[in-house]
Amino acid sequence: MLPHLSTYKYQSHFSSLPQTSLILIFKSTMSSSTIIILSAFLFSFSIAASAANFYQDFEITWGDGRAKVLNNGDLLTLSLDQASGSGFQSKNEYLFGKIDMQLKLVPGNSAGTVTAYYLSSKGSTWDEIDFEFLGNLSGDPYILHTNVFSQGKGNREQQFYLWFDPTADFHTYSILWNPQRIIFSVDGTPIREFKNMESKGVAFPKNQPMRIYSSLWNADDWATRGGLVKTDWSQAPFTASYRNFNADACVHWGSSSSSSSCSSNSGSSNAWYTQELDSTNQDRLSWVQKNYMIYNYCTDTKRFPQGLPQECQSS
Ligand SMILES: *[C@@H]1O[C@H](CO)[C@@H](O)[C@H](O)[C@H]1NC(C)=O
Repeated sequence: MLPHLSTYKYQSHFSSLPQTSLILIFKSTMSSSTIIILSAFLFSFSIAASAANFYQDFEITWGDGRAKVLNNGDLLTLSLDQASGSGFQSKNEYLFGKIDMQLKLVPGNSAGTVTAYYLSSKGSTWDEIDFEFLGNLSGDPYILHTNVFSQGKGNREQQFYLWFDPTADFHTYSILWNPQRIIFSVDGTPIREFKNMESKGVAFPKNQPMRIYSSLWNADDWATRGGLVKTDWSQAPFTASYRNFNADACVHWGSSSSSSSCSSNSGSSNAWYTQELDSTNQDRLSWVQKNYMIYNYCTDTKRFPQGLPQECQSS
């Protein structure tokens, strides 16, 4: 069942911290009529700028100043140097949603660095949906590494090259997660689908709310050409950027598993909740898998001598 719709996203703008504190600062120095005009201005501004606000939706969790929210909350940057990487997480937990983020990855010689962007729940039987971007030498291709964990079990890697340079511009990386399927997309093109195959005994993430996490760290023991190419610290700090976060999602409240509210930015529909790949998108998925997929656990018979995982055995 789809939990009830609410306008939570709208309401939360009013408690947005930066605007509130600005009003408090001005209050001590200005006449009351000025405050009213100023408040009205800030109020309308907060609605206009509300589409994505990293102050509102995320918190920086580590990196000692290496992660920064900039441009009034429109932009977030992570950086990595020899002493530390950095990371952030969403304030909300989600139980199903369509979640978009634009990323611009570490440019130039990014070998050894990994930018991870993923959803994860907590505990020893956690669920997780992963995008990981493995850096490379200048001009050599990034690898987009994906994985799905359900109830603590992963080992479902698929890796891709991209059909563009992910460091030259921002591109949109999306996770559609509904009760029937998980679809990974890049600029609206599906690259991977993980279907709910509980009927075949394969656990599917559907009971544990997940937070969004992202981090930039050094993984030169494995990331680039399997660890052969090391991080060149003379290029540090390495920086990845984020903007235009959007979640049409069910936000989970408190600790009980039953309370969540679903918001849709369009205000009109929660089509994502039952969305599936139409034939056009099925074709695009096949195009990516044929031309850009470089590793698929579902065809790695050497790795699974006892037989491929259940979800890999088609119909
Ligand atoms: C880096 O470039 C090399 C050479 O083109 C390629 O084999 C490798 O898959 C690329 N990506 C990573 C992350 O190693």
